[in-house]
Amino acid sequence: MTTAPIEHAVATEAPAPTPDPVLELHGAAVRVGGRTLWSDVDLTVGAGEFTAILGPNGVGKSTLVKTLLGAHPAAAGQVSVPARAAIGYLPQRRSFDAGVRIRGIDVVRLGLDGHRWGIPLPGIHRARRRAEHRRIDEAIASVGATGYAHRPIGQCSGGEQQRLLLAQALVTRPRLLLLDEPLDSLDLPNQSAMAALLGRICREDGVAVVMVAHDVNPILHHLDHVVYLAEGRAVTGRPEQVITSDTLSRLYGAPVEVLRTADGRLVVVGVPEDCRSCGPCC
Ligand SMILES: Nc1ncnc2c1ncn2[C@@H]1O[C@H](COP(=O)(O)OP(=O)(O)OP(=O)(O)O)[C@@H](O)[C@H]1O
Ligand SMILES: [Mg+2]
Repeated sequence: MTTAPIEHAVATEAPAPTPDPVLELHGAAVRVGGRTLWSDVDLTVGAGEFTAILGPNGVGKSTLVKTLLGAHPAAAGQVSVPARAAIGYLPQRRSFDAGVRIRGIDVVRLGLDGHRWGIPLPGIHRARRRAEHRRIDEAIASVGATGYAHRPIGQCSGGEQQRLLLAQALVTRPRLLLLDEPLDSLDLPNQSAMAALLGRICREDGVAVVMVAHDVNPILHHLDHVVYLAEGRAVTGRPEQVITSDTLSRLYGAPVEVLRTADGRLVVVGVPEDCRSCGPCC
């Protein structure tokens, strides 16, 4: 597999310095099981900026999120995440079976009590408990989940579960939200609603949002940066710079066409079959 950077990759990101960045990657690369997943990723994200990580299955999007979390080391380059102590994280593919009895509000509370390990803190002061109750209620209200937060989460719909899990990620007031396919399994109206909610959290609360997505369209109008991974390489930049026929054809090393529909949606045509099914070519 080739891992050489394509010239276009470094030229697309605007050079203006970002004040007070929440994360910075410079020439970052990651290896798993002895192979390079991606390399030469340059990205700087500031407070209140919205970033999408795009690319085919298996290309290393979730691994990039884990690298930002500090759970997977970079094999080369620099990875700096000043906001690491204040991250809200939504992992990929989480759903609860219908029989799960734990209430939505308790799932949100785990974001506070359990921190990373799900273990309640002993001997917590009563005033602090009250403040935590308020914060949990606020987080639930902020995602519009108050109406069903007291139901067993297994009885909530997929979209309702997503909102409650987003509330869990928000409950500690993070500076950086890392969301791995939060729109997965939502219908189109719920995708739009969730995208609008994330856009609001980003702009109004100054939270930096980095999310993995398979379809860029629901979030297109909110985006400041795109990281597009394919073929062991990466292109970063503004969406209008990255999601173009020219840039994606260079990235894939094959003709790829980006079409814009009458309603402004982007359609990517001609992605090589091997990249759709099994990720980067080896
Ligand atoms: N710890 C590991 N050891 C070996 N291989 C791994 C490890 N973690 C991930 N991989 C492999 O690395 C590749 C990238 O995985 P990753 O989960 O980051 O892909 P992805 O882009 O998020 O894919 P998807 O769109 O399917 O979620 C996959 O081929 C996966 O099997
Ligand atoms: Mg993934």
